[in-house]
Amino acid sequence: TKDIYIVGIETSCDETAASVVRNGNEIISNVVASQIISQKRFGGVVPEIASRHHVEQITLVIEEALISAGLKPKELDAVAVTEGPGLVGALLIGVNAAKAFAFANGLPIIGVHHIAGHIYANELMQPMAFPLLALIVSGGHTELVLMEEHGSFKLIGETRDDAAGEAYDKVARVLGLPYPGGPQIDRLAAESDGVVDFPRAWLESDSYDFSFSGLKSSVINYKHNLEQRGEKVNPHHVAAGFQVSVVEVLTTKAVKAAREYGVKQVIAAGGVAANSGLRASLEEAFGKEEIPFYVPPIALCTDNAAMIAAAGSAMYVDGVRGTLAMNGKPGMPL
Ligand code: KG4
Ligand code: ZN
Repeated sequence: TKDIYIVGIETSCDETAASVVRNGNEIISNVVASQIISQKRFGGVVPEIASRHHVEQITLVIEEALISAGLKPKELDAVAVTEGPGLVGALLIGVNAAKAFAFANGLPIIGVHHIAGHIYANELMQPMAFPLLALIVSGGHTELVLMEEHGSFKLIGETRDDAAGEAYDKVARVLGLPYPGGPQIDRLAAESDGVVDFPRAWLESDSYDFSFSGLKSSVINYKHNLEQRGEKVNPHHVAAGFQVSVVEVLTTKAVKAAREYGVKQVIAAGGVAANSGLRASLEEAFGKEEIPFYVPPIALCTDNAAMIAAAGSAMYVDGVRGTLAMNGKPGMPL
């Protein structure tokens, strides 16, 4: 049988990315242009600035992905692009670039959900086994998703307020750490010799939903109270306390869901899946459960286009095709 080559394009937030994937599971090229330097200056993602960066980078990034794959556009089978959710201005750059590229080269276009992409990053490492439980934790998402087969996504829990990564970034800011705060807090927590006791947001006992804004407020109040008494905050202890609260809730709910649905595989995805405390906790918990647990390498946890090409490949094989009427969908449902 003939090999299938899909080019993936991702611009839903702050990374301009393109990648070529063979047969849905083999990365041939993977290009990511990060805007991190610009965001450090502004303390986060500014949507309008992100869009402008995408405009500058997108053509070069797609070209680079093809050159390093050693392929001509006509040797590809389809173009897969993140259709949503995400920042509308950012999505539009990727979607329109994908449409132009597909039209110019007579290729079909496939619209991919960003979260499906994060989940399919795992397909680049090992084959998925169903039913599968995915824990997606990123700057914009905190979700537990059950997959019974390829292309089927059942949302069983999500955050009711801040996303996990958002909470990391906000708490880091309270501690005066640079953006993005996740890796900073992770590092402080790992080095810490003490832990501040912060609350756990369990919500209703039968709920797989999450909430992180109360925890964030607890950190702010804790700091405020200490400072009122003229005492200094120990950032290591705060980081460790915050992280252990987030990790404990994420792990406990993931284990409970995995048991309830009798899953054969558990995967983690999204930028926060790069967190060392979370990885260790999930590995230990699912080791005890004897359920195979996987997290992709960090470069495939954070936003990239290989994951979009991988998800797009599964859709391509299923016969899914989009049209040139495609538009960015900022609130696209899974
Ligand atoms: O998936 P991602 O690259 O972009 C979104 O789709 O949001 O995730 C970015 C988020 C940021 O909030 C960042 O602080 C967080 O992932 N992050 C981490 C770590 N590395 C990145 N959070 C905790 N620990 C880390 N090691
Ligand atoms: Zn993402």
